[in-house]
Amino acid sequence: MKSRASAPAKAILFGEHAVVYGKPAIAAAIDRRVTVTLGDSSENRVTIPSLGVDFRSESNPQGGILDYVSKALQLYHDGSPLSIQIEMEIPVGSGLGSSAALTVALIGALDGYHGRESEPGDTAARAHRVELEVQGAASPLDTTVSTYGGLVYLDSQRNVEKFDARLHDLVIAHMDHSGDTAEMVAGVAELRSRFPAVVDGIMDTVEMITLRAYRALLSNNPEPLGDLMNINQGLLDAMGVSTLELSMMVYEARRAGAAGSKITGAGGGGSIIAYCPGCAEDVAEALNRDWNAMKARFSEEGLIR
Ligand code: MEV
Repeated sequence: MKSRASAPAKAILFGEHAVVYGKPAIAAAIDRRVTVTLGDSSENRVTIPSLGVDFRSESNPQGGILDYVSKALQLYHDGSPLSIQIEMEIPVGSGLGSSAALTVALIGALDGYHGRESEPGDTAARAHRVELEVQGAASPLDTTVSTYGGLVYLDSQRNVEKFDARLHDLVIAHMDHSGDTAEMVAGVAELRSRFPAVVDGIMDTVEMITLRAYRALLSNNPEPLGDLMNINQGLLDAMGVSTLELSMMVYEARRAGAAGSKITGAGGGGSIIAYCPGCAEDVAEALNRDWNAMKARFSEEGLIR
C-alpha cells in the first residue's frame, strides 16, 4: 500500500506574531512543496534525501523538523511500521513554513494510507494541533495556508477567507541562518509580560496595517502595500524579532528599488519579502549577491492527495 500527498510552503505578507495574539494576518502559499510518500514496511524508516536524513525511527534521536513527524505519527497513525519518504523544496527554518507544509502533507498521506476522508478544515485543525504540541505556541496561520493554498486572510475570529488579488512583483530572500519560531514567539511574550500596554499597542497597530493591506488587495490597488510593509517591519523590529542580517536584507531590497520590504515569518533569521513593482529582477539580483532570492510565485493548490 502506498500513499502520497504534498503541501505548499507559505509567505506571510502581513501580521506575523500579532496573529498569535488573535490579530488578523494575510499569507500566501508559494510554489515550493513538501511531498510525503508512505509505504508498507517491516520497520519504521524515515528518509529525507535533501537533508541527508535516513533512519529507523525507533533508533534515532529526534529533533527539529523530525519532531513534527513523530508527533503526527503519534496522534494520527496506529503505530504499524511505515516507510516515510519526504521530499522538501523548502529550506528548513527559512520562515517559509516548512514544518507546517510537512505536517499537512504527512497528515494528508496518513489519511490516504488509512482510507480516511477529511475536510480541509479538519486537516488544518489536526496539523495545527501538531504544531501547538511541538512548539508550545502557534497560530493556525501556517497550517491553514498549507492546507488551503492560495491567498488567505485569517480574521481575528479565526475564519479563513481565500481571496483573489492581482499580486505580482514579490521577491523572497532567505539567509542560511534560520530562526527558531518557538523561541521568537516566546521572546515576544516575554517582552509583552514586561511592557503589556506597549506591546499590545504594537499588536493593535499591526492589526490596522493588515486590515488596510487587505482592503488594498481586495480593491486591486496594491500601491499602499510597500509603505505598509515598511511600517510592519518597523514594528517587527520593535517586537525584537529582527536581526542585523535581516535588517541588511530589508534595506538592500529597498536600495535596489523595492517599494517595501519586511521579515516574513518568525524572524531571528530566515526570510524577508519585498514588494517590487517593476523591479523584481533587479531586487532579486541584488539580494542574490549575498543571500538566496527568488521571485515569489504563488500556488493556488493547497494539500494535494
Ligand atoms: C510563523 O510563521 C508565524 C508566527 O506568527 C507564529 C505563528 O503564527 O504561529 C511568528
